[in-house]
Amino acid sequence: MHHELEKNSQTISAGTNTVTVLDYHERTKHRFDGYARGPGTLDWEAQPSPFRHFAGAPQRPLPLQKSNEGPSYAELFSGKSITSLNWNETTISQLLQFSLALSAWKQFGNSRWSLRCNPSSGNLHPTETYLIIIAIDGFEDGLYHYCVDQHQLELRCRYPNTEVLNKQALCKQPLLLLGFSSVPWREAWKYGERALRYTQHDLGHALAALSYAAATLGCEAKPIHEIGTVALQQLLGLERSDEFYADEAEYGDMLVSLHPAGETHPYTDSLIEALLQLCGSGEWHGRANRLDSRHLYKWPLVDEVANAVHSPARPSEQKHQAEFWPGAIAAAEHPLSQQSARTLFLQRRSAQAFDANATMTSDDFFRLMDRLLPRSELPPWSAQTAPGRIHIVVFVHSVEGLAPGLYAMPRRRAALDTMKAELREDLLWEVVDNAPTHLPFYRLVKANARRAAMKLSCQQAIAGDGVFSLSMLAEFEPVVGAQAWRYKDLFCEAGMTGQSLYLEAEAIGMRGTGIGCFFDDPVHETLGLQGKTLQSIYHFTVGAPINDARLASLAPYSSTSSCTSSSK
Ligand SMILES: Cc1cc2nc3c(=O)[nH]c(=O)nc-3n(C[C@H](O)[C@H](O)[C@H](O)COP(=O)(O)O)c2cc1C
Repeated sequence: MHHELEKNSQTISAGTNTVTVLDYHERTKHRFDGYARGPGTLDWEAQPSPFRHFAGAPQRPLPLQKSNEGPSYAELFSGKSITSLNWNETTISQLLQFSLALSAWKQFGNSRWSLRCNPSSGNLHPTETYLIIIAIDGFEDGLYHYCVDQHQLELRCRYPNTEVLNKQALCKQPLLLLGFSSVPWREAWKYGERALRYTQHDLGHALAALSYAAATLGCEAKPIHEIGTVALQQLLGLERSDEFYADEAEYGDMLVSLHPAGETHPYTDSLIEALLQLCGSGEWHGRANRLDSRHLYKWPLVDEVANAVHSPARPSEQKHQAEFWPGAIAAAEHPLSQQSARTLFLQRRSAQAFDANATMTSDDFFRLMDRLLPRSELPPWSAQTAPGRIHIVVFVHSVEGLAPGLYAMPRRRAALDTMKAELREDLLWEVVDNAPTHLPFYRLVKANARRAAMKLSCQQAIAGDGVFSLSMLAEFEPVVGAQAWRYKDLFCEAGMTGQSLYLEAEAIGMRGTGIGCFFDDPVHETLGLQGKTLQSIYHFTVGAPINDARLASLAPYSSTSSCTSSSK
């Protein structure tokens, strides 16, 4: 059977893949004496288009929705259930508009660029989105591609007759599944070999953004791990090589179920077999556009690793409550978090510069830290099935009542011992007096860490000028050494953590920025990490933004840019 084949081929190549991926990680580290291999020059005119479209595919516009409706941001964490809405053109539109759609166009002089609810390294947006829609009013059954710059769907495959699903009771109907994929070339164009890391960070940001938007509709976004990469690529039509440009390959990342909160996802082997059959006999439309006509450089390593991290079909992991820290924050929410969650999703931005004199209150700081704990009932962590393998080291610069310095927050119990064993021996590991008692938050060193944070984050001032910055340490070699594809999981979890930080910062009137550029081993040396049990895989910074008044801001969808035009 298809899935069995997939499992066997994965076992055979598991060893080689592990070596490929561990070597890749080592080779793509930034060092003080040199960055990971990337293009020597950038041809800005040939920047890959961030907009995928399938010329010839029937288009299905989605109606734009108001952003000031729905629950407030604070309500998403209040424990009160939000009534789950049925899927129809309004709710599908809301789901996409407040997670993955454009949020604004920016203009400076003659340059104009778009921003989205989900951030992306270099604003290059490698993530693509597909929907599988069955028995939803107003839609033909089939596979759709989400065309971001027009906020519309393109029908990639019209399923012939979905009766079979009904007859064999293969799934509850209506059915809405979402598929994510990445086009690594978009990132490799600018970042060369390190690009694959960024595609997976971006995937994590997109998944978390989806989880938050689904929560405003009383729904959950839950990844379906029981389908492996090969079957996923078939399901999304990515293996139809004649319809894509070979040097702009698109790789399947993840299938996500969207269903009322608290329900289990609908996956069964028979459902996926039936969907694959529908793809096989369906009517396909469209051809992927050319994203970049020039391709001055080639980065074969990126495609090699993209293939080495294909995941097998596997059961979804169970999070065990005992692995986590019980308790929750009782402090009052910040007044700004009473605004509509959707408004907040649209206003999320990356800060370009911070006011170094700003301070964060300790209530806001500890609430923000608390929201990073992977509690399975809250967004975005309801979208993460694996236990938290990302742990935090914070460079506190200016938080009221907290001495500047380095602090640690393991995100599950077992990691506290790992961190104590792996980090420098001379650290304090002091319990912080004014931290909530349930929060696993420890002081490591008292110091002014602004310069160190800046230097380690590729000399970027934002890492030193904020109220804090942080490094995300992944449980690394034991995890990736056993299963190469977990490499993707780790970067994706780091991206989800980043999205939580972005929104939490926004909800208290501050702002965040993801930091993919940092000097890997110098971070490890600073923390005293000698082996590779823990590796820093993403940085983040939060502070009071200084906005650039020269930039004009335009509405996301009143523009005339077209989905079907050139590759610029
Ligand atoms: C994974 C990732 C890494 C990033 N790395 C950096 C960085 O090193 N420095 C920086 O200034 N911005 C960084 N950013 C911010 C992006 O440049 C920003 O998301 C993008 O320009 C889109 O702008 P927006 O976030 O305001 O929508 C990063 C963002 C992501 C998601």
